[in-house]
Amino acid sequence: MHSDRLMLRGRLLTFNSEPQSAEDTSSYDYIEDGALLVENGHIVARGEFSDLIVDATGVEIVDHRPHLIMAGFIDTHIHFPQVQVIASWGAQLLDWLNTYTFPEETRFANEGHAASMACRFFDLLTNHGTTTSVAYCSVHKGSANAYFEEAEQRNMRVIGGKVLMDRNAPDGLRDTPKSGYDDTKELIAKWHGKGRASYAITPRFAITSTPEQMEMAGALAAEHSDCFVQTHLSENKNEIAYTLELYPWARDYLDVYQNYGLLSDKMLLGHSIHLEPREIAVMAETGSRPVFCPTSNLFLGSGLFNEEKMRENGIVSGIATDIGAGTSYSMLQTLNEGYKILQLQDQKLHPLRAFHWMTRGNAVALGLEDKIGTLDVGTEADIVVLNSRATDAMALRMERASTLSEELFILQMLGDDRSVEEVYVAGQAQKSGRRCTDTRQQEKVLELA
Ligand code: GUN
Ligand code: ZN
Repeated sequence: MHSDRLMLRGRLLTFNSEPQSAEDTSSYDYIEDGALLVENGHIVARGEFSDLIVDATGVEIVDHRPHLIMAGFIDTHIHFPQVQVIASWGAQLLDWLNTYTFPEETRFANEGHAASMACRFFDLLTNHGTTTSVAYCSVHKGSANAYFEEAEQRNMRVIGGKVLMDRNAPDGLRDTPKSGYDDTKELIAKWHGKGRASYAITPRFAITSTPEQMEMAGALAAEHSDCFVQTHLSENKNEIAYTLELYPWARDYLDVYQNYGLLSDKMLLGHSIHLEPREIAVMAETGSRPVFCPTSNLFLGSGLFNEEKMRENGIVSGIATDIGAGTSYSMLQTLNEGYKILQLQDQKLHPLRAFHWMTRGNAVALGLEDKIGTLDVGTEADIVVLNSRATDAMALRMERASTLSEELFILQMLGDDRSVEEVYVAGQAQKSGRRCTDTRQQEKVLELA
């Protein structure tokens, strides 16, 4: 039965604030036999199934019991043109960029390639439970168009931008201060605020932009203060040393971005690992947001993100995959590795805080918690349905689990796309819906016919 109104039944979990401890039950709402009513892409009611069913004539009901229903995951740092870079062997950051990543990104000059990869990219994200991405596109304007066009077709809330990079990169992968500025202006006019899209002004990092380009990036940020800004900061020791050679006047790495007026609460600073006390103070003062990328930081041997230090200083951090230096599209696996990185520093990531982080926490980092990241009435219906018994190992372990926190931790350590039963984007089911590989096969069949 087709209906514009949809009711999802299952075990509901949503967060109201960041859990301060395992006992902080006011930080979340959990309903064992709960229901969400979805209409026009939004959540219009949440409560006990027995209460909501009373007034549900003409509503299509999908029974997801015994699974968990949560807000869709948010990935706050990912590289769309690196879907075919993931799992490239043997290098740390600067060699990895030069050997694998930059050559791959040059392929995105081809708009057909960019469009085809965008389709695969969003299939991968939703299959892993991610409903919002904050992406770096390639230097080519067409790659950002491909990203936004594909997201628009799926009605996904996305943020992204073409990277600005005008030096220390191969031919075919550099813009100029002027072309980068003009292309960004054009993309902002076309996409920022269109449907569910927002633009992120994206100077890739200090090493690949001349001071002239940084100046232009600062101008863009000043002219479009409602756009996001994203870049990389202090990921790798050689990267930091090279940056300080290129900007000899800078007091530290962050000073480069500070000098060009790029810091604000719209700024997302990927990695932010090896920081000086002054940098931490400036991040706190300006409200800039570091983004923790656990699988990437381990894969490239970059270092250990100091989450506790950020929190102590009142800094709001995001968490993200950083594909293709990251090694999993799964935010569950991202939290698994994040847990281990904090363990190495004798810091603890409780599963309640972990699940808050990849949903409401990342939404707060983006200033979007009134739209995504919770199951609150009035927010957009981006929803994930999680199966804690998706594999034999999980099912066996679940036999000995008796609390919600235990279940969440099992999902965090053992879960991945196999645990994602279903994903809704603005109320539309994705897993059972259209897939680009299928579409292409259908086209093949049509060609042959
Ligand atoms: N620093 C500049 N560009 C990149 C990138 O593509 N990936 C990572 N991990 N770090 C970067
Ligand atoms: Zn990155």
